[in-house]
Amino acid sequence: MIPRVQAIVEQINRKLERHKFGEQPAELYEPIRYIMNLGGKRLRPLLALLAYQLYCDDESLDTVLEPALAVEVFHNFTLMHDDIMDQAPLRRGKPTVHKKWNENIAILSGDVMMVKAYDLLLGIDPKILPDVLRAFNRCAAEVCEGQQWDMNYENRSRVAEEEYLHMIRQKTAVLLGFSLQLGGMLANASAEDCQLLYDFGVNIGISFQLKDDLLDVYADQAKFGKRVGGDIIVNKKTFLLIKALEKANTEQRNELETWLNKEEFDKEAKVSAVKALYNALEIKQLTEQKMNEFFEQGLQKLEQINGNPDKKEILRQFAEQLMEREK
Ligand code: IPE
Ligand code: IPE
Ligand code: MG
Ligand code: MG
Ligand code: MG
Repeated sequence: MIPRVQAIVEQINRKLERHKFGEQPAELYEPIRYIMNLGGKRLRPLLALLAYQLYCDDESLDTVLEPALAVEVFHNFTLMHDDIMDQAPLRRGKPTVHKKWNENIAILSGDVMMVKAYDLLLGIDPKILPDVLRAFNRCAAEVCEGQQWDMNYENRSRVAEEEYLHMIRQKTAVLLGFSLQLGGMLANASAEDCQLLYDFGVNIGISFQLKDDLLDVYADQAKFGKRVGGDIIVNKKTFLLIKALEKANTEQRNELETWLNKEEFDKEAKVSAVKALYNALEIKQLTEQKMNEFFEQGLQKLEQINGNPDKKEILRQFAEQLMEREK
């Protein structure tokens, strides 16, 4: 990892370790400590802090670590609920909260995490707080909208590429956009730069979710930390499935649809059959092409941003590594 990025991750983790979410009832707060300490890439606070550093040479990051943590806490809240919705057994290599405890606990712990995310924003300069909250609320509502599209599409037989792209923009990309924008706002960057940071984040966020869909099928289980094939098991309308349905010949389409329509099936058998169809249809290459398109659009936005060129280069390299990630 890039040394400066590694140093910031360590600062984020130290700050998180010291952060008090609450104590009683233990069933409410223990799952929060559990999910927050499972690791994770800390991508969203990293983006906020890397954006901040484009404008401020403050290596201690003292005043901005807390608001940056807000986006990580919010993200982990969405994961806790997402894992219920996606019936996911594993997160970051460990049992998901609703499996380790139960669904009610995962719902309520997630709810209070959302509140704790707001708490972490409260220390921001009151002059910019309303603007930050407006942007955050818009982003948070969009994440919920995206998650609802995602659930709706599980039960639809056909989803268009455009619908899929809109859905992932909302459920995933806008939070990357907001995180970068937040860094810019905390550094008093111009409104133009904050918008460019947001646009950069949304575009790389779409690539990021395309890569997440790809990893869900092609990752090495030992490294991934989530159940490989989880999306196939629940008929998630990922880019891979949408393209496979589009490109398949009649025989392949029948086979795919037979699997999609089965109520009872052997999970491993379904995952390997669908994966074999993806392979035959060269869906991985197609997904990578789409990822690159959005990534390039993101880079064009980054190029137009002002700020320290060396720090911009770190942001560019970091974004590039995200596209090569294995988990
Ligand atoms: C997972 O996010 C959910 C998506 C939006 C794809 P990350 O891949 O950032 O998960 P962690 O936080 O690193 O575990
Ligand atoms: C997650 O998308 C988006 C949000 C949590 C808002 P996924 O459902 O693909 O994320 P993973 O794969 O479970 O991390
Ligand atoms: Mg999901
Ligand atoms: Mg999920
Ligand atoms: Mg996923």
